[in-house]
This record gives sequence, structure tokens and C-alpha cells, in this order.
Amino acid sequence: MLEKMIVEGGRPLSGEMTVSGSKNSALPILIASIMAPGRFEFHDVPDLMDIHTTAGILSELGAEVENHKTFIVDSTPIASYEASWELVRKMRASFLIMGALIARFRKARVSLPGGCELGLRPVDQHLKGFEYLGVKISEEHGLVIADATGLHGGKVVFDFPTVGATENLLMASVTAPGETVIQNAAREPEIVDLARALTAMGARIEGAGEETIRIQGVQSLSPITHKIIPDRIEAGTFMVAAAITGGTIIMNNVPTTMLVSVMEKLRECGVRFEETGDALTVIGPKKITPVDIETLPYPGFPTDLQAPFTSLLTIADGTSIISETIFEKRFAHVPELIRLGADITIDGRSAVIKGTGGLLGAPVMSSDLRNSASLIIAGLAARGATEVYRIYHLDRGYERMEEKLSRLGAVIRRVRQDD
Ligand code: EPU
Repeated sequence: MLEKMIVEGGRPLSGEMTVSGSKNSALPILIASIMAPGRFEFHDVPDLMDIHTTAGILSELGAEVENHKTFIVDSTPIASYEASWELVRKMRASFLIMGALIARFRKARVSLPGGCELGLRPVDQHLKGFEYLGVKISEEHGLVIADATGLHGGKVVFDFPTVGATENLLMASVTAPGETVIQNAAREPEIVDLARALTAMGARIEGAGEETIRIQGVQSLSPITHKIIPDRIEAGTFMVAAAITGGTIIMNNVPTTMLVSVMEKLRECGVRFEETGDALTVIGPKKITPVDIETLPYPGFPTDLQAPFTSLLTIADGTSIISETIFEKRFAHVPELIRLGADITIDGRSAVIKGTGGLLGAPVMSSDLRNSASLIIAGLAARGATEVYRIYHLDRGYERMEEKLSRLGAVIRRVRQDD
């Protein structure tokens, strides 16, 4: 059953919320549980569609999975090393199963991934990386087949810092005999969290979070209990929601050290932050000052917050330019924001956003995870009702967003979408 979200805008947010565990950290770490037989226990795993998909992949391989408050995986019974199209097509991150299967079984058969509609998202860097480690890769009927019987340490040099390929190669290399050096590695906090989990399992990794990661292969790994880091993208999204409504919210479990570039841009927009103990108060301004933004690999400004910031800047006091350098096709929110009265033109990989006096509610269509959040955010500021269709995109990556927003005073409800 398709659902839509109806937002009645124009109310400043106020109150307190707690940031959930990170989706993009949980996905690779849950997948890493297949690398060693035994019982793994994960805390702060968010309750999301992508996590359910991951649970499905682990179960399909033969693991026993319990996903209640604590996410438990018993990977002892895993006997299969094939991840089918049925599950992989739902989520690009499923391709991370490849590195984990190589580490455990020295072989893998994984369907080429699908995922959000963000333009071409090839996996050439992943495959090139595996080949550096002596893995023989072939493709057949949409499946990538890895023969890693000759797996060994090696030097992996990426053309650019890719998050997924860095994670896949980290997993494949921890049991590869000898030393592996990954150069031009992605530096995202989620990679550091994965390395922390792998190290607790017995891996020997140095330099996660830096451009060069060194791994000394170990013979065996053991199960762990692990707490997932907070979701920096969810945190950033709620900061933007507070800002666009001119509200004041208190946020708990905010990973401020992972949000330096984001909080800096929000300060330039006029947002104020006050840290008291573990909580962060976010105070939205009366007027949004325009800013220019370029999305970059971490620690630069995250592409996953580009769409929410585009919404914010539609009501700024002047013109802003946002350049998207990570994905070639991530402006699907723009025509929808224009339906709400925004003045935006796209010039190649940049959006030129002229602030308008205000937005007016209208029906809009979401087409990926982050753009669905950006449309809800725009709806919070728009006068009247904004209806965001195909809200299942939101459920892939935000844990009960409408409940969290309602508790902050937003008027938002989920209803059945007829077509
Ligand atoms: N790319 C290639 N070849 C590769 C790998 C990547 O050309 O072999 C390209 C992609 O097509 C893309 C760019 O490089 O244009 C970045 O890809 P990257 O591998 O860094 O990203 P990812 O691992 O596919 C993760 C997050 C994304 C986030 C990006 C960038 C997860 C599960 N996903 O994707 O999150 O946008 O890093 O930070 O960690 C989201 O949560 O909404 C989301 C899309």
C-alpha cells in the first residue's frame, strides 16, 4: 500500500528529540557479521526499511537474525555465498556482502546492485580493488562472481575516495594473508565505525578515517557486541528543519564532531548552537542568510544533506549556489520545490537558488531518500498543506520521522495514497 505524508506548514519547531543510530554505519557492520561464525549483538541499529532488507540478505544466506530492540545475528549456520537479485536490487549497499563473503568463504556470487535513482552508480572501484588482492572477478547473467582462493594482501589505489569500495575492501582484506594498503580511501565516520567493529572482531587495521589505511591480515575473527554511532545525516536534517521554521529544538545524541562542515554552513545561514552537557540546542534565525555550498567527500559538506539545504535556501534572503560533485543526478527535488513556489535553476551540476518570500503547499513527488526529507522540510515552512507522495523512500533511511517531527510540534500525518 502506497502512502503519502501531509504536512501543514508554518509552525516553528520546538521541543526535544534524540538522534537514532546511523543507517550508513549499521549497514556495513551488520553485513560484517557474516565474516566470523558466532553470535553478534548490535545496539542502536535504527528501525528502517534498509535495515530490514539487510536482515533479509543475512537470513537468505542462512544466518539467524532477530531484530527487536537489539539486533542479533547468529552467523554460524551460513552456508550460502550467493546474494540474489531479489534482495540486492532493493539497496545498493547490499553489494558490501561481496567483501564479507570473500573474507569468510573465499568465494561470492552477488547480483549487480540497484538502489536509489542517483544516476550511474557503478561498482568499478570495488571490482578493481578486489583484483588488486588477487580475487578473480567474472560477470554472468547480472551476477558478479568472485573466486578468491588466491586472496592476498596488496596495494589498492582508488581513483577517488569511494565510501562503499573502501568498506568492501576493508572487509575483504582483513583476513587476506600479508599487508594491504588502501590509498585514497574514503574518510567518512561510518568507515571508522566499521574499522572499529572489525578491530574488535580481531582485525588489525591502522589509519581508518585517513587517506591511507593499512591492514595486516589475520587468520580468524570472532563475534562481537557493538553500538552503532549516531546518524549524522538525520541530525543534520533535523537541524535544517529547526532552521527553516525559525524554531528552537534540543537534540540529544548529536555527533557534533562529525558535523563540523554542516554546522559551519548553518551558522553562516544564521543558526545558533548552544551545547549543554550532552544536548545541543539549535536556534533557528528569523531570516536565513544565503550561502554557497559544494558537496565533497568527508570531511567536506555531505551530499546526503544537499537536498535538505536546497529547501532551506529557497526562503533565504538572497541567492545561493549549491554544487553537487559526488552524484551526477541528485536534483530531482528541484522541480518539486519549484511546485511549492521556489525559484531554482539548474546549471550543470549546480543549482542557483533565489530566495523567495515564502513557499506555498502543494502535492509533490519524492523519488529518493534524501529528497523525500527535503520535501517534508519544505512543507514545514510552506503555507497550507504539502502532500509528499511515495513516502516509502523516506522509510528507507529516517526512523519514524513524522513521529519525531510531531513531538516537536509539526502538524504531519501519514495517510494512504490512492494511486
Ligand atoms: N562510484 C563509482 N564507482 C565505484 C563506486 C562509486 O563511479 O566503484 C561513484 C558513484 O557512482 C557516486 C560516487 O562515486 O557517484 C560516490 O559513491 P560512494 O561509493 O562514495 O558512495 P556509496 O558507498 O554508494 C555512500 C552512502 C550514500 C552517500 C555516499 C556519499 C551508504 C550505504 N551509502 O554511498 O548514502 O550518499 O556514500 O557519501 O553508506 C543515503 O544515505 O541517502 C546515501 C545515498
